[in-house]
Amino acid sequence: MRKKIVAGNWKMNNTLDEGLKLASEVVNMVKDERQGDVIVVLGTPFIHLASVSKLIGDTKDVHVSSQDCSEHESGAYTGEVSVSMIKSTGTRYVILGHSERREYHEETSVQLAAKLDRVLSTGLTPIFCCGEPLEVREAGTQDSYVCSQLTESLFHLTKEQMSKVVIAYEPIWAIGTGKTATSEQAQEMHKAIRKHLAIKFGDAIAEDTSILYGGSCKPSNAGELFSQPDIDGGLIGGASLVARDFMGIINAY
Ligand code: 13P
Repeated sequence: MRKKIVAGNWKMNNTLDEGLKLASEVVNMVKDERQGDVIVVLGTPFIHLASVSKLIGDTKDVHVSSQDCSEHESGAYTGEVSVSMIKSTGTRYVILGHSERREYHEETSVQLAAKLDRVLSTGLTPIFCCGEPLEVREAGTQDSYVCSQLTESLFHLTKEQMSKVVIAYEPIWAIGTGKTATSEQAQEMHKAIRKHLAIKFGDAIAEDTSILYGGSCKPSNAGELFSQPDIDGGLIGGASLVARDFMGIINAY
């Protein structure tokens, strides 16, 4: 049975105090109001990881994620943060390959494959992002674009490793634009992703892989998106910065 996950991606928002306030609001709401068996994840900037993990403690109601990691284990990489450092804070998830990192930091598929290996070897769970830009969607070649991203960064993994990976499909044209993919468009792509994974890893692994949707997901559209058979949750940007909105998405299941 694949897991349902709603993960927030705070991006570069919130000072430490603001982040702790938001995390504490979410933790309390989840404790009091969560209806389903959804795994809740907070993707915070690096500086929040230790404090938010401590705040969450052993409740297991909410987990913490970083938004990136280094592909190196340690050494002279000024400004970088390794997976061991991330793990030492109590963090369980690592978002990888977000389109903003691919675009602004020129992260390549090869680099992302190396980061995935690091994350998996440390026992953390990668949330691997993929998604096409507007011009690709307009040309109608989104399936092959996204499947290539998966082939290039994931297809060297063993079945055992792949069984630990979470995928997030985030069409770039829907991120922060208020323009959500329709539930049909999202379902179609999620199905194509699952089919592509099955070619390499077999039906059982593909069926068990959680595939999240990201891109202008809000309390008002989450229910419809999450009702699609191949959508297993969301990766939420803007709406994860307001506890009440994020909770509305968690309870959209
Ligand atoms: P928005 O929800 O703000 O569109 O961002 C989506 C996203 O990029 C999550 O990683």
